[in-house]
Amino acid sequence: MSVVDNIVSIRLDDANDALVLLDQTLLPNETKYIVLKSAEQIFEAISLLRVRGAPAIGITAAYGVYLCTKHVQTDSYEEFAAEFKKVKDYLASSRPTAVNLFWALNRMEEKLESVKDLPIAEIKTILRDEAQAIRDEDEAMCREIGENALSLLKPGMGLLTHCNAGTIATARYGTAQAPFHLGQERGYNFKAYVDETRPLLQGSRLTAWELQASGVDVTLVCDNMVSQLMRNGWIDACLVGCDRVAANGDTANKIGTATLSIVAKHYGIPVYVCGPTTTIDMDCPTGDDIEIELRKESEISELWYEKRMAPEGIKAYNPAFDVTPNELITAIVTDRGIVYPPFDVNLAKIMKDVK
Ligand code: MRU
Repeated sequence: MSVVDNIVSIRLDDANDALVLLDQTLLPNETKYIVLKSAEQIFEAISLLRVRGAPAIGITAAYGVYLCTKHVQTDSYEEFAAEFKKVKDYLASSRPTAVNLFWALNRMEEKLESVKDLPIAEIKTILRDEAQAIRDEDEAMCREIGENALSLLKPGMGLLTHCNAGTIATARYGTAQAPFHLGQERGYNFKAYVDETRPLLQGSRLTAWELQASGVDVTLVCDNMVSQLMRNGWIDACLVGCDRVAANGDTANKIGTATLSIVAKHYGIPVYVCGPTTTIDMDCPTGDDIEIELRKESEISELWYEKRMAPEGIKAYNPAFDVTPNELITAIVTDRGIVYPPFDVNLAKIMKDVK
């Protein structure tokens, strides 16, 4: 079974006024879909990481803002727009780092404003189509990223990946995991090395599951083993996703990405950041301008353990993301091609006519 072909992790069920999501918190033990109908449920699903991954969050929010305003009964554009803005602002506060969330919600709002003279019923249909377009465009972008990343790789390579930037983190295929899926279809026989990705284990729970189920040769390691893997000569390249790429190429991604990149630099191993142009934030000059989400201390001290594994009352610091400085990144693989340093110049070139 290929997860890419068999799992639809985000689906609008318009007839039943619902969003149907794969609950990623239950993987790999349970493949369960949850049915969400309210803004509160959608907010909860994003903030608890039932749906996660930058593009997937954006798609969910776009469907969400449509669904949660579709029953607003009014003929007044102003009243409708005010309700829309309330839902938009609420969903935008569910997580701070991945720019796709804000990008998708802003795109929905711009669409709304561009059709303000139409009857409300027509506006609602246009909003539904816009959310669907955001989802469909993401699938196409991920496919392109996969093709572009594959052009950097050779059959049989050992590839290290971190967190989950897979099919379930996007509309389909994934970003950093897309070349694994396409490579699998084409007989590349990659050796995938997946780190657990403490504390929420997106690597072991999600990526290991996703790649194994798709037939890829996967080896799981703890986060602190990556230097030894590289020293063994087993890693030819690192492929990671991104939550926000600043205009100078500094990249926020799952906590641990920067550590991995520093170690990779030591061993002369390339680090490829894979992401759609929707994750590049040209309004954000550098990594210092990216807000890093802080999550609950209990994710470190208690979650996954039968008993606490840290003394009661211990202080913990739990940033969900880190910033990899641009000088540690070999290339940024996008749907519009592979971007090399100097990133400030070359990102500006590919983003020139992106809306
Ligand atoms: O906290 P998460 O699981 O949402 O973090 C996800 C990541 O860091 C991914 O690498 C990133 O969003 C890219 S997903 C295609």
